[in-house]
Amino acid sequence: MPEIIFKNILKEFETFIQSQKPSSTQAMKKACELIDQNLDYYNWTGFYMVSQTEERMLELGPYVGSKTEHTKIPFGKGICGQTAESQDTFIIDDVNQEDNYIACNIDVKSEIVVPMFLEEDMIGQIDIDSNKPAAFGKTDEIFLSQICLLISQVIKNEKNV
Ligand code: SME
Repeated sequence: MPEIIFKNILKEFETFIQSQKPSSTQAMKKACELIDQNLDYYNWTGFYMVSQTEERMLELGPYVGSKTEHTKIPFGKGICGQTAESQDTFIIDDVNQEDNYIACNIDVKSEIVVPMFLEEDMIGQIDIDSNKPAAFGKTDEIFLSQICLLISQVIKNEKNV
């Protein structure tokens, strides 16, 4: 049952944050590793964060999976860019049916992108690709929102230092 795995990952991630006091980059890296090691249908896991220097631009953050040349994605472009625009989760069952999609790897069949917020502001997103069609649903969205919330708390503390 993925729900039990989700719960265990969240517990381990919370413990990591409390005990290691990681930077936000270290926390995002750890989240990618925990997800990649424990969920076999999550085949590419990474973060895109809102650029601090360029308007309406996402920049690739920590990730685990095959190398991508898409290190910058403008708002509106691809699934990630559309998520940044709408500030709402995107779940794509079949990426080959999407016109506005940026392909990173031909094995990818489905994708979920969940926005990350710091209070009211959208600051980034977590992006997952699966090689399985229609791999993602509501429980994945809830799980990934919780991961994003934990990371945004690390970012908040970092900003207050
Ligand atoms: N597929 C994404 C691009 C990012 S890669 O999957 C790593 C998109 O359409 O925005």
